[in-house]
Amino acid sequence: MRNPFYYGNEVSGDDFCDREQELHELTGDVRSGLNVLLYAPRRIGKTSLLRKLQRELVQSDEYVAVFFDFFSVSSVDEFIQGYFNAVAKSFDTVPERVMSLLKSVLKVRPNIQVTVGQSGELMYGMSFSRKERTASLEDVLNLPHVFAQAKKRRVVVIFDEFQEIEQFDLEKKFRSIVQTHGRDVCYLFSGSKKSILQRMFHDSSRAFYRSVKHLRIGEIPLDQWTGFIQAKFARTGKEIAPDLIHRAFTITRGFPYYMQQLMFEAWDRTDAQVDESIIEDAVRLMCEREYDLYSLVWSDLTPNQKKTLKYIVRSDGRNLYANDQLGETGLTASTLKSTLDGLMKKDVCERTDDQYLLVDPLMRHWVERYMA
Ligand SMILES: Nc1ncnc2c1ncn2[C@@H]1O[C@H](COP(=O)(O)OP(=O)(O)OP(=O)(O)O)[C@@H](O)[C@H]1O
Ligand SMILES: [Mg+2]
Repeated sequence: MRNPFYYGNEVSGDDFCDREQELHELTGDVRSGLNVLLYAPRRIGKTSLLRKLQRELVQSDEYVAVFFDFFSVSSVDEFIQGYFNAVAKSFDTVPERVMSLLKSVLKVRPNIQVTVGQSGELMYGMSFSRKERTASLEDVLNLPHVFAQAKKRRVVVIFDEFQEIEQFDLEKKFRSIVQTHGRDVCYLFSGSKKSILQRMFHDSSRAFYRSVKHLRIGEIPLDQWTGFIQAKFARTGKEIAPDLIHRAFTITRGFPYYMQQLMFEAWDRTDAQVDESIIEDAVRLMCEREYDLYSLVWSDLTPNQKKTLKYIVRSDGRNLYANDQLGETGLTASTLKSTLDGLMKKDVCERTDDQYLLVDPLMRHWVERYMA
């Protein structure tokens, strides 16, 4: 029987749990024409959420929704091509109509081709000379707006892994063009490197300073997981008690990727009913599997950062300055402060109102197991 849980790339349909509130809020923002920066750690479900939003917007027929992932872009030319393809594809499913539309709205008339990709999908490309690069970039960036105006449609552009733009010296150009699009085109920027995004959007010398609404998406709450997980076990003739889902939730903090991975492993080890040892075995295995990844993060830390991370794990990240244990670490309050800042800059730690947390919830268990 096929395992009903899945972890890896984006999920949809039956594999997608909750996010009702986030979808509701984002849809409202899009309606109001707000630009939004959505940030969250790796593997929390940004892409899945944004793809779902894109599908819902397109289905409602009110919007044209473009989705572009910055992750694999390695040059400005590649961005121009990739973005052009993403925008063109979103206009219409009939290539002839897309081509005639593009030809009617593009200022510089580049050579436009449509080809069929390896998996049978249509790919739109444009060729331009080096001299035409800047003009082509501007044209492509303006394409959603030109389309919105020509067709009296509203356009939503979703940029996934937007922090990657930092490498290409595109920020100023990007911002200066995007800000002329007003409410006709709504932009959603998403990314996982909080420290880079904060610099981009909070630093007054940067192009995107104060230009967007900020939305942090978090873990999925326990009550949503409980229904989702129990239904999957029940459908496959197995069972899991709510207190074990609660246990899994405490370990993963409800972090989607790890919640799915833990349930995948638990389901796999269960004939009829999950028990506590199955959950503990699964967590051990997950920590082992991530050993290399976490070791890499660990080896990049300074000795004080390593000490502080252990201290956070030991004290549950609470009352770090007041805690009796601070003395044992050998750190002074001011060293602790600068070390915590350093850990946050590296996106290893984050801070809530009253607690310091490891951004990656499983890493806490890895530190406990291997580094304590
Ligand atoms: N709404 C959800 N319901 C259930 N599982 C989810 C959900 N969102 C994410 N996941 C789990 O997390 C995994 C990663 O999801 P996704 O690729 O959307 O995250 P991401 O934040 O875009 O990750 P990355 O930072 O690697 O790009 C999925 O394979 C799935 O196991
Ligand atoms: Mg993603």
